[in-house]
Amino acid sequence: MTFIVGDNCIKCKHTDCVEVCPVDCFYEGPNFLVIHPDECIDCALCEPECPVGAIFAEDEIPEGQEVFLEINAELADVWPNITEMKDAPADAAEWDGVENKLQYLER
Ligand code: SF4
Ligand code: F3S
Repeated sequence: MTFIVGDNCIKCKHTDCVEVCPVDCFYEGPNFLVIHPDECIDCALCEPECPVGAIFAEDEIPEGQEVFLEINAELADVWPNITEMKDAPADAAEWDGVENKLQYLER
């Protein structure tokens, strides 16, 4: 099993998650992070670290966000690895909880 990053990370991107991952399996795009499903060891450490609740176990993905399982796998193969926390976007708080942010995903 893997954990995945879901919709609410888009345009929030706090990056607290990368600091706790023991296997450094987060990958960074312009306004979103993903988890590599083949590298994640299912430790669950990252889930409570996300300030906006955007990380889920594969078998607990909220209804309507199932597509993020494939999106994480696809983009983890092409985006660069990220292992250190960085500043969130200045307007991250305004985007927390906005629904259906997939339309804003930059690749
Ligand atoms: Fe990394 Fe563990 Fe989160 Fe998987 S569950 S992404 S191994 S911190
Ligand atoms: Fe995104 Fe949460 Fe990590 S907003 S970058 S999944 S801490």
